[in-house]
Amino acid sequence: MTRFPHLFQPIEIGRMTVKNRIFVPGHNTALSVEGLVSDEMIAYHEARAEAGVGMITMEVSTVHPSYAPHGRLSVVTDDCIPGLERMAAMGRRHDCRVLGQLFHPGRVAAASEDGSVMASYAPSEVPDEFYKNVPAPLTTDQIRDLVDHYRRGAARMAEGGLDGIELISSMGYLISQFLNPRLNQRTDEFGGSLENRLRFLREVIAAVRKGAGDEIVVGIRISADEMDGEGLQPGETIEALEAIEADGRLDYFNIIASTTASYAGWLHIIPSMVMPNAYLAPLGRQVKDAVTLPVMIAGRVTQPHEAERIIASGQADMVGVVRGHIADPEFARKAREGRPEDIRACIGCNQACIGHRLKGFPISCIQHPETGRELQYYRKSRADAPKRVMVVGGGPGGMKAAIVAAQRGHDVTLYEKEARLGGQALLAQLLPDRSEFGGLVTNLARELEILGVSVRTRTEVTADLVAATGPDAIVLATGAEPQIPAIEGLEEAHVVDSWAVLRGEANVGRSAVVWDWRSDWVGLGLAQLLAQSGCRVRLAVNGIVAGERVPSMVRDYAVGELHKLGVEIVPYVRLFGADEDSVYFQHVTSGEPVILDEVDTLVSHHALRRNAGLAEELNAWGERLTLIGDCLGPRTAEEAVLEGLKAAMAI
Ligand SMILES: Cc1cc2nc3c(=O)[nH]c(=O)nc-3n(C[C@H](O)[C@H](O)[C@H](O)COP(=O)(O)OP(=O)(O)OC[C@H]3O[C@@H](n4cnc5c(N)ncnc54)[C@H](O)[C@@H]3O)c2cc1C
Ligand SMILES: Cc1cc2nc3c(=O)[nH]c(=O)nc-3n(C[C@H](O)[C@H](O)[C@H](O)COP(=O)(O)O)c2cc1C
Ligand code: SF4
Repeated sequence: MTRFPHLFQPIEIGRMTVKNRIFVPGHNTALSVEGLVSDEMIAYHEARAEAGVGMITMEVSTVHPSYAPHGRLSVVTDDCIPGLERMAAMGRRHDCRVLGQLFHPGRVAAASEDGSVMASYAPSEVPDEFYKNVPAPLTTDQIRDLVDHYRRGAARMAEGGLDGIELISSMGYLISQFLNPRLNQRTDEFGGSLENRLRFLREVIAAVRKGAGDEIVVGIRISADEMDGEGLQPGETIEALEAIEADGRLDYFNIIASTTASYAGWLHIIPSMVMPNAYLAPLGRQVKDAVTLPVMIAGRVTQPHEAERIIASGQADMVGVVRGHIADPEFARKAREGRPEDIRACIGCNQACIGHRLKGFPISCIQHPETGRELQYYRKSRADAPKRVMVVGGGPGGMKAAIVAAQRGHDVTLYEKEARLGGQALLAQLLPDRSEFGGLVTNLARELEILGVSVRTRTEVTADLVAATGPDAIVLATGAEPQIPAIEGLEEAHVVDSWAVLRGEANVGRSAVVWDWRSDWVGLGLAQLLAQSGCRVRLAVNGIVAGERVPSMVRDYAVGELHKLGVEIVPYVRLFGADEDSVYFQHVTSGEPVILDEVDTLVSHHALRRNAGLAEELNAWGERLTLIGDCLGPRTAEEAVLEGLKAAMAI
């Protein structure tokens, strides 16, 4: 008897049976090569399919030459068909249904072919806030041509053997722009009344049916609430869905929220840890109350019990789990086997998944760097000759190194000088709205426990201990520590470091300046923490914006919180000096002074200092010694965990 009986019920969608209610919604992996399905992409999806997910929707495929940028999956030519065939065959091997997404962004065209900005097209000339595009209104001929390309793209997906096709009308993309009366200001048959605004979608659906036939499943993904003043509102969307359902040509509705057209809309595209788990489920309920076709929902579902509750309570018929599968490909298997506590739950940090994607790199996960690198790391080779491995430092990097070395059959001992594993991640979780970051530690600790790795806490490793232990290999993950920069006037000023503030060991008084050298989570979080306690806070950043190095959705939300709290942000400065009531900065380019007065305390979040003393003492160990993570170069948990994986794979 499964612990999640509703989740593991099959479901009929159109003529397709899906073996359970968990699916992986479309997500751009950046694993396509030349716009086509690649070996890497197949391997990525296969890891999830073989673990038992019922359905995978492939990432958006561009449908028309007006938006088919290099590097995006595309169905604009027949070249796509062999790759789709391979994806479909992969799905059949694992009894997993595979769908494709047909996509045109309309006005919110984001990519570039060659660094130049491409022209965008939309129903009407209404600019967007986020990309600053001013779209050219589509002519009727262009609309007909677009519709015909949907037909051709659908035909290719059907020829490739996919089980279904999803039309992207979500997130403020082209189809939703036609539906939205504020964006569609046309006076022809495609604008005005609801009937007219629905015309484009109806013609696309008819074309898709013509191209792909009546057997194949066809559904629509739509943001029922675009979470933006200009965006579609739930009442408008539901009215449109009722009308479309009445036409009888679609098989399901896949519901989401958000738009890419505005900063506020982006917060819900890939909702970060500030959004409650499964928070969009009530939107599914609203749609389900109005329609009879199967309804799917996604958004911060990170655990099977949340998905089970959504299905059991009738909020949706299927639940999408994207980042939950990026973080743990075995989500479905562990749920089916009643082992939810073994799931490496996504913590909503948005760093290596969408963070990579937005930088143009293949997606991965800070907790599970094997993701996106399946061909290299998913199946781990056993070590030819098991070795005695000493891992020094129980932060994220050391924990991952110990896990992977143990998975490969080595005899591993992990040493941590503090009482608890976690390193800096234990501090990271203390920042406001960041408690879920601690899940990184919980998840890694659970993996150590499952593998039975020997862990020695409260044990500081010295060169003598290493010599006495005599390991075959040492992974050094001793991390980094804060340092106060040597600035002018230091002896007169009241200066504390950021870690002391987080640990509650510093009294900052009533007016603080936070010096943020890294422009990352710490400056943002400290400013918020202190302002919430009633302190006047100025956040001085050595960057162009506070949180410059933080994934945009996380940063934009945090900056909004600072705005509400009245925190003053001073960008483009470097710290110069301080005295008893002032802090002196220099503008980074003009060199002009920027002086902040009436300061009780300077809170310093400066460059960390590598904990490399032991590394120097162990030099003689040569190739048997590997440095990883912050002790190699202070960066983030992502690099520490990735380097832990690589170091352990090399032993
Ligand atoms: C407040 C804060 C917020 C952050 N937020 C984020 C974030 O949102 N995202 C992100 O990716 N990164 C974040 N970081 C950075 C991230 O936590 C670090 O980059 C990461 O923890 C580095 O991992 P590590 O394993 O290399 O080192 P550490 O985490 O520093 O761990 C090193 C460990 O080694 C132990 N140790 C040291 N010497 C010895 C010894 N001789 N013997 C035994 N044990 C020893 C230490 O006690 C420590 O536990 C944040 C950091 C801080 C401080
Ligand atoms: C890296 C990444 C790329 C995405 N690309 C797409 C996409 O191609 N098509 C789409 O419909 N949604 C896309 N999304 C949104 C997801 O389908 C999903 O709605 C969102 O991640 C919320 O679900 P989650 O909380 O389970 O991750 C993407 C999400 C991520 C993380
Ligand atoms: S990088 Fe962060 S948000 Fe993305 S899948 Fe991993 S844990 Fe989740």
